[in-house]
Amino acid sequence: MPTSNPRRLRRACLAALAAAVLALVVACTGDERAPDPTETPTVAATTEATPTPTPTSTSPPTVPRFSGTDGRALYGQACAVCHGQALEGTNAGPTFLNRIYAPGHHADISFIFAVERGVRAHHWDFGNMAPVEGLEHEQVLAIIAFIREQQRAAGIE
Ligand code: HEC
Repeated sequence: MPTSNPRRLRRACLAALAAAVLALVVACTGDERAPDPTETPTVAATTEATPTPTPTSTSPPTVPRFSGTDGRALYGQACAVCHGQALEGTNAGPTFLNRIYAPGHHADISFIFAVERGVRAHHWDFGNMAPVEGLEHEQVLAIIAFIREQQRAAGIE
């Protein structure tokens, strides 16, 4: 009897095992690359590596940032085109040298809101003011300080 030979039995067992493994591999390799565990980390590594250049491509700001905290300079760059270099107003925006913009009527918070959210025209016929982008909060505060200073100098308090 062949089964009586332990060596043969072992070989048969090994053969069966090999066949089973082969069958398993074949079954799993239906989708070519999936079962190879050594490949998975490589795929993961490459997919992880791909996003790296993305921040570089999105980093250039779409909105130019203002620099510095000089209220006068920032006002000149961000507001004067409509509100006038000396707060006198232009045909695109109202003067701030009007009592309605004195701190008692338009508190600092309304200036912050104007810059951050824009203004729906309600006092004049200039139209709406779009939000002014690219200003840090600190820079807005510096602009407000400059406006208040100019208002005080004009007797608007
Ligand atoms: C493109 C033109 C334009 C620019 C630039 C602009 N504004 Fe205005 N702003 C307007 C107009 C128009 C109004 C609306 C006036 C109205 O009818 O009430 C306005 C209104 C305001 C008001 C009044 C808000 C209220 O509640 O009534 C404030 C405060 C103000 N602007 C601040 C600023 C500051 C500060 C800047 C610069 C950081 C600035 N604006 C830049 C056009 C502009």
